[in-house]
Parts: sequence; C-alpha cells; structure tokens
Amino acid sequence: MDFTTTTTTFVFVSATVLFLFTVLFINKCRSLESPSSVVVNTKKILLGSMGWPFIGETLDFIACGYTDRPQSFMDKRRQLYGKVFKSHLFGSPTIVSTDAEVSRIVLQSDANSFVPSYPKSLTELMGECSILRINGSLHRRIHGLIGSFFKSPYLKAQVTCDMRKLVMQSMAAWEEDRPIYIQDETKHIAFQVLAKALIGLDPGEDMQFLRIHFQDFIAGLMSLPVNLPGTQLHRSLQAKKKMVKLVRKIIANKRTCNVTISQGPKDVADVLLNDKSEKLSDELISDNMIDLMIPGEDSVPLLITLAIKYLSDCPKALLQLKEENLEMKRRKKDLGGLMCWDDYLSLPFTQNVITETLRLGNIIMGVIRKAMKDVEIKGYLIPKGWCVLTHFRSVHLDANHHESPHHFNPWRWQNRDMCNGSNTCFTPFGGGLRLCPGLDLARLEASIFLHHFVTEFRWVAEDDTIINFPTVRMKNKMPIWVKRENYIW
Ligand code: HEM
Repeated sequence: MDFTTTTTTFVFVSATVLFLFTVLFINKCRSLESPSSVVVNTKKILLGSMGWPFIGETLDFIACGYTDRPQSFMDKRRQLYGKVFKSHLFGSPTIVSTDAEVSRIVLQSDANSFVPSYPKSLTELMGECSILRINGSLHRRIHGLIGSFFKSPYLKAQVTCDMRKLVMQSMAAWEEDRPIYIQDETKHIAFQVLAKALIGLDPGEDMQFLRIHFQDFIAGLMSLPVNLPGTQLHRSLQAKKKMVKLVRKIIANKRTCNVTISQGPKDVADVLLNDKSEKLSDELISDNMIDLMIPGEDSVPLLITLAIKYLSDCPKALLQLKEENLEMKRRKKDLGGLMCWDDYLSLPFTQNVITETLRLGNIIMGVIRKAMKDVEIKGYLIPKGWCVLTHFRSVHLDANHHESPHHFNPWRWQNRDMCNGSNTCFTPFGGGLRLCPGLDLARLEASIFLHHFVTEFRWVAEDDTIINFPTVRMKNKMPIWVKRENYIW
C-alpha cells in the first residue's frame, strides 16, 4: 500500500501536483468561510499558518519529508502552536493532529463526521466501490468479512505454508558472492502470498501477468491527476483494466464451479462471493481484489526490510532474536514437526522487534480524513470541509509517550501486549472502523521471514538510508551480503 503508500501515506502526493493544489484551493476558498473567522469562534483557538496562497505549507512539508527528520515540519509547529494546529496542505485547509487523543477520536468517528480523503489520482485509480473509498453499511460489511477471514486459522495456516515455501525457495537461490536486495526479495514473496490470499492464484503465467501490470498500476498512485493518453495515470488505468479482466475471469470460474459453497472459502474472493446480502456484484468484488493489493503489497516488505535494517544496527537485539528463534527451531526439530502459524507468533521477543519496527519505521505516517460537518473535539472546532491529518509518526516519536523515541529498543514492549490492534499512542495500523484488517497477516509474514532469515544466515548490511517521502523505502533497496550458518542440529 504502494499504499504504504500507501495507505498509504499514499496519503501524500508529490510536488508535481501543484496544478491540482491550485484548482482545489480555488474551489475550497469558494466553498468555505474564511478559515480565520471559523477558527476564531472555537472555544480553543487553533493556531497555525495557512502558508502561501494556493500551495499553503505543502512545499515545506515535502521538503521536510525528504530529510532524515521528516517530522521536523510537525515539531517546529508543535512548539509554536501546540499539538493541534491549522495548516494548508495538498490543496486543503487542514487541521494537523499530533495529539494521540484527538487522533483517536477522529479515527473512531463514523462517516457522518469524517470520511477518508485521498489524492485525486488515487481515487481515480481505486474506483467508486473500493473498500478504501466507501462508507457506511457497505463498508462495514466488506471490512467485517475481510477482517474475519484474515483472522481465520484457515487463512493463517495457508499463508504460513505459502510464505515458508516462497521464503525457502528465495533463500535457496541466494549466493554469498553477490549482494541480496532485501526490499526486492521481500516484495516478490509478499506479492505472491497476497495474490493467493485474495484470489487463490498460484505462481505461474497469470501471477506474472498480474505482477507486471500491478507495477504499472501503482506507479500512477502518486501521479499528476490527468487522464490523457501518454500520462502515467492513463497507463495505470489501462493496467488496472487488464488486471480486472483477469480477476473477472477467475471469479466467473469460481461461480461456475460453485466450489466456494461446497468447500468453504479459500480466499477473500470466495468470502465475498459467498456473502448472502447480494449487495456485492462481481464487478465490485473484482475491483476490490485489485484495490486490496494497494495497502497489502508494499507494507509487509517494508516492515521486514526495516526490521532487518534496525537489527543490522543493533547486534544485541539481533542476538536475542536469533537465540529465541533457534531455540524454537530446536524444539520443533525434537518434536519432529513443522512450525505452524501460532508457533511463529508465539515468540515474544520477535513480536517486540516487529512492534518496535512499526513504531520507529512509521510505514504509514498518518491518514487524512475530511470533516462532513463541523466537529468539536477536545474543544477544537474542525470546520466542515476541512481535512484532518492524524499524524501517527509524531505520536510514535513523542518522548512523552515513548522514552528515547528515536532509539530502536524492542525491550520497551516487554510485558505489553501490542499485537492486537492499537492503543492510543501506538497506531501503526490506524484505528476505529478502518483499522487495518491485514494486521495479523503482516505480523505473521514478518515473523516467518525473520525466523528463517536469522536462523539460516549471518549477514553484513551495506550502508543504506531510509527515505520517508512520498512513501517509506530504502534508498538502495537494502543490500546485504549473506553467509549461511552451519548449525549442527
Ligand atoms: C505493515 C503492514 C501494514 C501496515 C503498517 C498497514 C497500515 C494500515 C493503516 C494505517 C490503515 C488505515 C487507513 C485509514 O484509516 O484510512 C490500513 C488500512 C487497510 N489495510 Fe493495512 N497495513 C498493513 C498491511 C496490510 C495488509 C497485508 C493488508 C492486506 C490486504 C492490508 C489491508 C488493508 C485494508 C484493506 C485497509 C483499508 C481498511 C478500510 O478502509 O476499511 N494492510 N492499513
């Protein structure tokens, strides 16, 4: 989700959409009361700056995003105006919340108060019935169906089997005399696991077809929102059409074979096809299968890549992780069985490493909602039509919530159960009605990869830098040099 985009985060567009800002800004100015007069009437006066005409403070936001302290935009304004302040970002007057409680209330609100807001290129690519765009009862239905399937032991067992097979295949091909690019390796694996979980696709020609066109598709998520032949958005829409055609064929096949009803759902498409509400057309299901890849595709590879980056810089954590996983491997070997999904998830230090990576890595830096009416939260008035940016990164890196926040410290999570959902000061998967349904899957995939990686290899990481804008990624794709471990079992 180049959602991690995506989600991501896909929340933020590049500077190239200056044109869009202009159009949006003019429209907004026509439709809104003057920002200052609205804000002056609130109980708590919202301070902040609306920046330059048309572009607001967007360029400053983007410039900070490219540095190694992307939250400096927020930090500077927090000091001047407080934890909640007004700004003008990406074409909209925006209230920025770096306050955990205000953000929690925004995320918990329903569509009468706030709806998701995405860049125009993204909404065009997602389609009208995308789970990422719809609200109300249809959204609750689809979110619920997907969320419970992703939590089911059936899916977790299948993902474990697929992930293990793909990880071992991939690692078997690693050579010691050339660098391994972790970001690419994990992307390749996670995409195949996701396509299987969503539409039951096995590796082969169709998988290859989907992978190639998906790359074209996501390239448009952050593009100039102009759909004319030759533009990226146009190419991305064409790529989506081709993918949807393939998915429709798969869905039609499922309907003809009627397997879903007789054998129980094997993938998300089955779950939606089995829904009795009759609100879910084949068209809606096919579109959503592609849209679900947006948040799912990029986020898990990044989680794994960042964990390996942080571990490379923290030998003490790596040693403890290795020992914990080797111990589990020995135990399983003695018992004579393969590890199952709850074995992978049962290792406390491994989960702490993943939790700390989510906190420090901020794969999704925050989400944007748009107010559907005037909403008052903790005395702040959020005027109808304004956006709210709930900035998770600021909360995750706030020393009042997390001691030495820039330090990778998995031990801080000892004796705290952070695996399910979120608490107010830790929201890597969002919260409320739109809490990420893929959170268990993400942890499981990361746990499996890390288990095999740390128990089978030593490695030396080349220098690489984390880029935070427009999405989080490694500048050089995280090259490492590996050596196989020779443990005698
Ligand atoms: C490290 C991995 C992941 C992170 C950090 C992450 C983060 C998030 C966040 C913050 C949201 C909330 C967006 C909002 O409130 O607007 C979200 C939503 C979502 N995520 Fe994830 N995600 C991850 C993995 C996945 C995976 C593997 C899937 C599987 C398909 C997935 C599917 C979704 C979907 C469908 C939504 C939209 C839910 C809705 O709007 O109802 N995510 N994710």
